[in-house]
Amino acid sequence: MNVLKKYKTPLFFIGVLSVLWFFESSFSYKYEADSIISSDKKAEILLSKMTLEEKIGQMNQYNGFWDFTGPSPKSGDAEKKHQDLKNGLVGSMLNVRGVKDVMAVQKIAVEETRLGIPLIIGFDVIHGYKTISPIPIAEAASWDLEAIQKSAEMAALESSAAGINWTFAPMVDISRDARWGRVMEGAGEDPFLGSKIATARVKGFQGENLSLNFTIAACAKHFAAYGFSEGGRDYNTVDVGTSTLYNMVFPPFIAAKDAGVKTFMNSFNELNGIPATGNEYLQRDVLKEEWNYDGFVVSDWGSISEMIAHGYTKDGSHAAEIALIAGSDMDMESYLYLAHLKNLVDEDKVEIALIDDAVKRILKVKFELGLFDDPYKYCDLKREEEITGSKEINDAALDIAKKSIVLLKNEGNLLPLKKEGQHIAIIGALASDKTSPLGNWRLAADDDTAISVLEGMSKYKGNLISYSKGPDLTIGKTEFITQLKINTGDKSGFKEAITIAKEADIVLMVLGEHGFQSGEGRSRTDIGLPGVQQELLEEIFKVNKNIVLILNNGRPLAISWADENIPSIVEAWQLGTQSGNAIAEVLYGDYNPSGKLPMTFPRNVGQVPIYYNYKNTGRPNSPGPESVFWSHYNDEKNTPLYPFGYGLSYTTFNYGTIKITNSFDLDQKITVSVAITNIGKRKGKEVVQLYIRDKYASITRPVKELKGFELLELLPGEKKIVDFELTEKELGFYDNDGEWILEKGDFEIFIGGNSQTNNKTTLELK
Ligand code: BGC
Repeated sequence: MNVLKKYKTPLFFIGVLSVLWFFESSFSYKYEADSIISSDKKAEILLSKMTLEEKIGQMNQYNGFWDFTGPSPKSGDAEKKHQDLKNGLVGSMLNVRGVKDVMAVQKIAVEETRLGIPLIIGFDVIHGYKTISPIPIAEAASWDLEAIQKSAEMAALESSAAGINWTFAPMVDISRDARWGRVMEGAGEDPFLGSKIATARVKGFQGENLSLNFTIAACAKHFAAYGFSEGGRDYNTVDVGTSTLYNMVFPPFIAAKDAGVKTFMNSFNELNGIPATGNEYLQRDVLKEEWNYDGFVVSDWGSISEMIAHGYTKDGSHAAEIALIAGSDMDMESYLYLAHLKNLVDEDKVEIALIDDAVKRILKVKFELGLFDDPYKYCDLKREEEITGSKEINDAALDIAKKSIVLLKNEGNLLPLKKEGQHIAIIGALASDKTSPLGNWRLAADDDTAISVLEGMSKYKGNLISYSKGPDLTIGKTEFITQLKINTGDKSGFKEAITIAKEADIVLMVLGEHGFQSGEGRSRTDIGLPGVQQELLEEIFKVNKNIVLILNNGRPLAISWADENIPSIVEAWQLGTQSGNAIAEVLYGDYNPSGKLPMTFPRNVGQVPIYYNYKNTGRPNSPGPESVFWSHYNDEKNTPLYPFGYGLSYTTFNYGTIKITNSFDLDQKITVSVAITNIGKRKGKEVVQLYIRDKYASITRPVKELKGFELLELLPGEKKIVDFELTEKELGFYDNDGEWILEKGDFEIFIGGNSQTNNKTTLELK
């Protein structure tokens, strides 16, 4: 029924609706479902019926606090939270998952509270739900936007079937610091690639229509500059200027906003002296005013109360006041909005209009999700059973896992492996590990559910395979919540590993980080191979040089020794549920590796932060062999071990010279093109990358900036022409006031297979 056809004006309809509500004690879902008034208007109408306490309740988010299908809590914190839920003082819950549990809490909100406003149910669906896809930085290495979008779509499908309707993803923080554990959650160091991936992920989660029961609201986080924490230490101070904010940090957030992301999360760090959670410049001036953002902002976990420790607020009440004024709409686990906002209004310290604005934003998203039409739309047990772990989801996880692998070195073409007649020794505790490949942020996945490398390899029957675990990588518990302990002393596994290596034709060494060595709170100062693995690698190398090193890791590692000595190196990250299958397909050549690094690999941790889009400095080059006074290290090169955008294939691509098809002035766009030819013997994919360099500008520009890329597949001998368009958007930049400018002058245009390409041409912008 289209309500507006029955009544002449929406205003009349709204009036009728209000009267109806006046007489009803609870909110009428059915009526709303049939109407065509906007979510915004619906939120406004509902808001007008709410008490101040109920409004503040919508701004309060609790973590799951008891076994929801068991008896109700009788005392303590859980009891209080339960009462709050019944009293309509909770707008959202996180970490409640599974149809039964979500149904139980939703029922309380809908059936026991005065207005029956449904909860929005949040969860960290970061790279899959039960079925896990590669960690986000690995997916970013695919540069395959379709596959990335599909992965997010599958995550939405599986999690929505488990009652969830809001994910705290995508994490779009740009970071240049491999020490920071959270680089595993993002798309790497580049704002252009990061923006494309942010868009793909938002579209994947939210789909075309958010009100369907298989799409969920997304959340662009962490706003902002969390990836620039000093020294790569998590939660640490951030001090960056406007130009870096606008040119490096903001672009993926803008892309997420443009893709329609429904929520933002602020961040734990302070930015230039003001915690992001209490930062009015970020949340109001930039996000809500300049960008005109109409979704809501959730705080990060406890970040409102953390402003006290930051030394920014006096106490909890002050923190609540500052956070609200700054534009944080929902309080995740600080409990301060609930405790203080009413008093703050009574004391005239905060305006009720700010609360109204926050609540309206939250309600609007709930309307858009369709929760008022059917609050139990994600709570279908049969659907949960059918969808969880389905073939469709696993197929997509395998597809993106293969595409995420990066071939770093392949001397003498040790890879791909022959399918028969070889004796292959597999060595390393990670080779048989079925939990670590799930990576971090896989809270709903069960341990031991990933296909291990050993299992994946064993599916190919033609070779003789022997396995030795070697030394343990970890000691004791490996949990999300506790500090991981690495084995740094026990080498008892060495002997057996050396014995099997001696007898083999090829040794596959699966080494690297455990899945819980990266992620939140997992910063490291040593980014080499952890524990005794480096020593093991060197010992094995003494008895057999035919080594394929398969890296598992959640961040760039410094592996200079391996690069110098080991013939083949495969970057296999943490690839999720289908990990071992994907790795085996790549090793055997059933999938020709096509990934490219989304983050620079240093030679040595002392080079960090190291990134491709650095500034040139006034002394970029050595004036002579003995010279000291130029920008360099005395004990290490400036260049990385593997640059951004780098990755090999089992075939080879040849790039032709770059052609500029028309000249450029301010009104025209320019087309640059290049021919790529597959000059090898296998079909393969190549990520063709375009970089620009603005040679001189009123604010110095990086030596290279990615401004375009295309993923191509070419048959042996096949040649394709790739065209890129350059407009103001690619050639301009943000100045120190955050204004977009385009300046005349000289540019270099590079097109090649990684950020160190020297295939270039020049362009003068007149
Ligand atoms: C993290 C967020 C996450 C939240 C909820 C915080 O500790 O920083 O990224 O979404 O917890 O789990």
